Amino acid sequence: MSELYKKAIEVLENNWRGRFSIPCAKLYPFQWFWDSGLIAIGLAHFDMEKAETEIKTLLDSQWGNGFIPHIIFHSESDSYFPGPDFHRSDLHPQSSKKYNSTGMTQPPVTGFVLEEIYRISKDKKATLKFIESTIDKVFFNHQYFYNNRDPHNEGLVYIYHNWESGTDNSPIWDDIWDTMNPPEYTFERRDTTHVDPSQRPSKREYDHYLYIIDIAKEHNYSDAKIAELSPFLVQDPLFNAMLIKSNESLIYLYEKLGKHEKVSQLKKWQEKSIQSFNSKLFDEEIGAYVHYDLRNERPLQFLSSSSFSPLFAGIPDEERANAMVEVMLKKFGGEHQYLCASFDPTSERFNPKKYWRGPVWINLNWMLYNGLKKYEINDIAQRVKQDTIDMLQNNGFYEYFDSRKEMHNNGKAGYGGNNFSWSAALLIDLLE
Ligand code: DGY
Repeated sequence: MSELYKKAIEVLENNWRGRFSIPCAKLYPFQWFWDSGLIAIGLAHFDMEKAETEIKTLLDSQWGNGFIPHIIFHSESDSYFPGPDFHRSDLHPQSSKKYNSTGMTQPPVTGFVLEEIYRISKDKKATLKFIESTIDKVFFNHQYFYNNRDPHNEGLVYIYHNWESGTDNSPIWDDIWDTMNPPEYTFERRDTTHVDPSQRPSKREYDHYLYIIDIAKEHNYSDAKIAELSPFLVQDPLFNAMLIKSNESLIYLYEKLGKHEKVSQLKKWQEKSIQSFNSKLFDEEIGAYVHYDLRNERPLQFLSSSSFSPLFAGIPDEERANAMVEVMLKKFGGEHQYLCASFDPTSERFNPKKYWRGPVWINLNWMLYNGLKKYEINDIAQRVKQDTIDMLQNNGFYEYFDSRKEMHNNGKAGYGGNNFSWSAALLIDLLE
């Protein structure tokens, strides 16, 4: 076992909180939806019981309508803002009676995480039993999305907040902020006491984030009202690719379990989703997938690492996949660059140090690696894998990394939180 692998296990053990993992001490002191799923993949390699517990705890927070929240506030903490008193999940009539949470969600990774856990397991029979006990909750979550988040019945679900995207302060959202004029909120940021503020979103961006939540709260987090009124309403290629990938995993696992009742519904969703995804979200001019602003009825024509995430879900055909990879290599993959920056490095909005405005993220690299392998684009897949290992090896288990290789000479090209769980978890998976 290499030193790096051992250190990754140590990070995950330190971030374990008995029934779930925190993404990072102080900066993110609770359970986050997509973090939790991706962390479980790493845990499964050395402690299957913890991996299962992580997922069980996550699914235990599910609301009566199938919704799963983005943060579950398991404990009190004064190191994070905005906490449960701001989010007020209790306003929703079907929210969990057991846990305080947010009233927004995050990319639906749980379906494919179950399949990954099954792939990793050395005791397939036991793991299948665990999957049998949880899979219906994941199906119910997908049903929530298709029934409540797809107002035009297109097979593409919307997100109503940038925190739902996972790519919190992507420059893509700047065009939406231009359509809004939120009040100036008075609040105390906590994140900027843990991390250099130049690597985090601005105060004015936070005003927008809080304002969208206030609108949702005014209507007790009603999906119908949010669809009608939220100034942020976006069909996000990353989010929808996660849903499609998870649909595929649910089909595979239900068939393995010999439980066929839900498979035909899943296949129906899947067919429609993939078709709309390819026709609505692919941008010929850019040569990759882009976001669609449903509130203002316009595509948001920007390249980001989310643009390539459909490879992971097998959405483009082979010809399109290869053409997309050419686009990626041209803009993101010069000899001086580590793959894959989170935002178009040739854009004037690119910022290589600021959260989702440019740095490389390990979760998107992990998806890209697996997507490239799926299309047998093996040389580039290997490059993504090696770049990821090098960045972690040279800097530590940071939250995000500078894509400019020249910045990596002194081990200070890792940004945001340190000892970040999914950076450790997905490295473990890459090294296996
Ligand atoms: C944060 O607080 O920045 C989180 O990413 C929200 O999910």
